[in-house]
Amino acid sequence: MQKEAAALVRLEEYRPTDYAIDTVALDFSLAPTATRVTARLELRRRAEDGPPPALVLDGDGLKLVSISLDGRRLSAEEYEASPDRLTITNPPSSPFRLETVTEIDPDNNTALMGLYRSSGVYTTQCEAEGFRRITYFYDRPDVLSVYTVRIEAPAAEAPVLLSNGNLTESGPLAGTGRHYAVWHDPFPKPSYLFALVAGDLGAIHDIFVTASGRRVRLAIYCEHGKEERCRYAMDALKRSMRWDEEVFGREYDLDVFNIVAVSDFNMGAMENKGLNVFNDKYVLVDPETGTDSDYAHVEGVIAHEYFHNWTGNRITCRDWFQLCLKEGLTVFRDEEFSADMRSRPVKRIADVIGLRQAQFPEDAGPLAHPVRPTAYREINNFYTATVYIKGAEICRMLKTLLGEEGFRAGMDLYFERHDGGAVTIEDFVECFAEATGEDLSQFSLWYHQAGTPKVTMRHRFDEAAGTLSLSLKQELPETPDKKPKKPMLLPLAFGLVGPDGQDLSFTSTEGAEDLADAGKALERGLILLGADAAELTFTGLKARAVPSVLRGFSAPIQLEGDLSADDLFFLARQDGDPFNRWEALQGLARRAIAEGYRARRAGDVPRFDPRLAAAFGELAENEAFDPAFRALALALPSEGEMAQILASDVDPDALHDARDALAAEIGRISGARIEAASRRAMPEAVYSPDAENAGRRAFAHAAWRYRVAAGEDGAFLTEAFAKAENLTVRSAALAVLVHARLAGAEEALAAFYERYRDNPLVLDKWFSVQATRPGHDTLEVVAALTESPAFSWKTPNRVYSLVRAFGGANLTAFHRPDGAGYRFLADAIVKLDGQNPSVASRLATCFRSYRLFEAERREKAEAVLKSLAGRDNLSRDVSDILTRTLA
Ligand code: TRP
Ligand code: ZN
Repeated sequence: MQKEAAALVRLEEYRPTDYAIDTVALDFSLAPTATRVTARLELRRRAEDGPPPALVLDGDGLKLVSISLDGRRLSAEEYEASPDRLTITNPPSSPFRLETVTEIDPDNNTALMGLYRSSGVYTTQCEAEGFRRITYFYDRPDVLSVYTVRIEAPAAEAPVLLSNGNLTESGPLAGTGRHYAVWHDPFPKPSYLFALVAGDLGAIHDIFVTASGRRVRLAIYCEHGKEERCRYAMDALKRSMRWDEEVFGREYDLDVFNIVAVSDFNMGAMENKGLNVFNDKYVLVDPETGTDSDYAHVEGVIAHEYFHNWTGNRITCRDWFQLCLKEGLTVFRDEEFSADMRSRPVKRIADVIGLRQAQFPEDAGPLAHPVRPTAYREINNFYTATVYIKGAEICRMLKTLLGEEGFRAGMDLYFERHDGGAVTIEDFVECFAEATGEDLSQFSLWYHQAGTPKVTMRHRFDEAAGTLSLSLKQELPETPDKKPKKPMLLPLAFGLVGPDGQDLSFTSTEGAEDLADAGKALERGLILLGADAAELTFTGLKARAVPSVLRGFSAPIQLEGDLSADDLFFLARQDGDPFNRWEALQGLARRAIAEGYRARRAGDVPRFDPRLAAAFGELAENEAFDPAFRALALALPSEGEMAQILASDVDPDALHDARDALAAEIGRISGARIEAASRRAMPEAVYSPDAENAGRRAFAHAAWRYRVAAGEDGAFLTEAFAKAENLTVRSAALAVLVHARLAGAEEALAAFYERYRDNPLVLDKWFSVQATRPGHDTLEVVAALTESPAFSWKTPNRVYSLVRAFGGANLTAFHRPDGAGYRFLADAIVKLDGQNPSVASRLATCFRSYRLFEAERREKAEAVLKSLAGRDNLSRDVSDILTRTLA
């Protein structure tokens, strides 16, 4: 039986609250199962005339203990309190003070939203709608208040008491064994940015002096004994603070900045004002317990949360439809930070791989939605790759369109005009339009139209005339909203590559009338495709030109060009744009895998153009490219990316075989060259997590994979595993051993477990490596691992590293033809839904691409989804995902 569907929240129904809440005083008396929260709110009517309307505040599972208004206890007729709503029927017309006492149960809060305990530490998570699980409030981002928070707890149990802002008072409560602290945050903020942490924690401390000379006390809190593993995060924090001053002119604004690492956390981290709370996996790293990519993630997430202080906190969202206002922009900022800290082209390639892996499938499936959605049933389900990463791509395109200076001028105006406000995407875009005088109305469609635009390019070079003609066409796919779509403005960065690899100049263009702002943009190397189709001819070319289009992946689109294999080989070698050099070789590999796949399905043996394997060897030897770039270029397109390209009737087993066959051929033909080249690029002997050394390690590990693909046994990996002096090398060796099922894999798994049995974060890698091993029988392994003493359904990191890794990144096993993979996931979703709906619904998104697969699998997935959707008592989170997936 389907329960009543949750109400749809619509953007067009937005209206401000009847009352403003200017100040909030919260008083927490902490106790594991019965915490008392006293809230004193200063309320004021926004309108000036008419009778005061009822005051209606949000709650979620709350128990009201007492309530008074302007110091007077309210009688039962004066209010109505249910777990999820508090209504004051006849509030006064002049400003008034409302005091409520609620009682909450942190220990039994398994959803990890609101106030909960993680390993004995009290912590909060309020975004998006968790504050209402603490006290009755207008729990929405457009109500900004100044908070003062008093925390009281047993001193022995919780020596550390933290909240937002600055500490104003603290001390013992004589004779009680308890103590207290008072925190005041002078910056008005929405409730989702409130945070409290209390517990017995270790810490490291540092000082940051801002550009204007203010001293900020920095601290990172963690479990005792893990302090040294916070050093890299502290370093990343200081670099982020400096970078935001230098690149965006943004200084930090409080006297303290605290970060707390907790081990039970639904997502990556949270930007609460002055008190960021982190999933410990994005704080704790050292060479023995973190890999190179963990270091990169710590750096990126620390930066992301810090950057929210301006893009999210000082300027926040008017409503949750505007989520990309803070998330897309802040992802863009953290991507740029990492690009500056590391290698810009390598970072761009890695981000595009992420976009194609996470966002393109979302945009192509039943969960597709605009970056700025217009309706939702459960806002938790909109913290998506589309809002975050495609949202960041829109900011990147703005910068491409407006240029460095125009972009900065728009940002400056945004900060100046909207500081202290709760604003919309329209407000944001308007700042760029005003600062530069550009008309951004067509560009804004990027926020409103879902689906990945597809561009088809045909080209013709006329040697005698010295001309190159391009014909471009854009198509916008149909998406679940079924809305008709208008042509979008696509900034296509390009160059015309001459025989020596230099871009050729052209004297003029013809037929550019279908392009926006043609002359000016073309000079800057940009084709602005704004019409359904356009034809343009470049004239005056002195030599043969190969068009290199979508350089730097200047727009999040799917480009289908007509370049020959010869031209792609040429670009892979010669394109002046590193992204397109990488992309040319990827394009060749994609074609090869797709052809191999077709052969395989027709019962033939895949055959490949031998030049492809040679090109991989040549690229590996090219010392003009840094090792990190070569490592990325050696990685074949993932099965997930290929499944998207094949688009329908996909047989994941044939796909896996075809991709393996290509890897084997590259290994046979060029494995030795790749291996030798990687030896010439050895990392320094002493581990250093910097990008250069990480790239060298990644290069070596890519070479390993080709040796194994070519048929070499695992002895060299067993040796590398045993001799490894850091987790990066150890876990890379383990992954190749396990995924290729080599002799020695089981022993390595056992040794890894022994070594890290007391470190759950590292054991997550042990779970993931097993969960992602290709092959149908991995399901049985994963099911058995759920019984491992190291596994727990209660900790999101464990569930993600085992169950979600299986459902999201193991095509052959999850999409097993007998449907058992689907049933396993469905059981996991049911098990989790009662305790943590956010985690359960994230698992449910593993089904988002089920329609890509061949009929037998598709039908089994659909049957499993339908039976899941028919269950009673599903959370709003899960039922929303299921309903949309099946629609
Ligand atoms: N705003 C956070 C970020 O992007 C993420 C976030 C949103 C979150 N909701 C959450 C984190 C719930 C944990 C739990 O940085
Ligand atoms: Zn964020």
